[in-house]
Amino acid sequence: MVITLENVTKSFIHEGQKQVILQDINFNVDKGEFLCIVGPSGCGKTTLLRMIAGLDFPTSGRILEEDSEISGPSIERGYVFQQYSLFPWLNVLENVTFGLELKGIEEEERLRKAREYLKMVGLSQAENSYPKELSGGMKQRVAIARSLVNDPHVLLMDEPFSALDVQTRHKLQEELVRIWKEEHKTVIFVTHNVDEAVFLADRVIVLSRNPGKIIKSFQIELTRIRDRNAPQFLELKKEITGFLDDEL
Ligand SMILES: Nc1ncnc2c1ncn2[C@@H]1O[C@H](COP(=O)(O)OP(=O)(O)O)[C@@H](O)[C@H]1O
Ligand SMILES: [Mg+2]
Repeated sequence: MVITLENVTKSFIHEGQKQVILQDINFNVDKGEFLCIVGPSGCGKTTLLRMIAGLDFPTSGRILEEDSEISGPSIERGYVFQQYSLFPWLNVLENVTFGLELKGIEEEERLRKAREYLKMVGLSQAENSYPKELSGGMKQRVAIARSLVNDPHVLLMDEPFSALDVQTRHKLQEELVRIWKEEHKTVIFVTHNVDEAVFLADRVIVLSRNPGKIIKSFQIELTRIRDRNAPQFLELKKEITGFLDDEL
């Protein structure tokens, strides 16, 4: 088990009132698993991922990595944000080497690793470009390379493709599946898009809203790269969407 959530509850104080955002969340993530968490907007997906990242903490309950409670951010838990989050003053190569520099890795090795991951995401040609010169899809590719280059145990992804047009989104989803297979990463991917979850995940957890609770979990056994037009794909999509619609 890489990540374990035990009875995780999170509340915020909003205008003097306690609001329970997430309630009694329990799940484990296995090594190498691709887990998707789907739920309607505002159900607490980002809050949940931020707690796994160590950027925020449960009000009650525990989140463990291996056997120890998560006490803060770690380079072992890479985070890819929904919003483009590259450093605008650094070029693509420098954005990717940044974390390695913090770790004290020598320049030659930094450049070698950064170039390896830029190649993996198809951006070898763009290493000298600045973020403002890149399309949304390219920026998210850099963000993925920037996380992977640190060799995290777990990759946490918060709707990373939601701002992209549908063709680009599908392309990046395919690339992510390929990279996940090659790198044997554990991925926790949050989305409100059921199609995306069924395309990507080994397992899909469905969250309700007000408060966010796990209402259902689906094991997705379809072989990859998945065919969106396959009857089983469409059937699963319909079933999961049904659970979400009941929430809205
Ligand atoms: N730091 C915070 N303080 C107060 N309320 C918050 C905070 N962060 C999130 N919330 C509230 O928690 C709820 C869930 O937010 P979020 O986790 O962003 O949902 P999602 O990512 O599923 O759209 C929202 O109602 C939001 O306003
Ligand atoms: Mg969110």
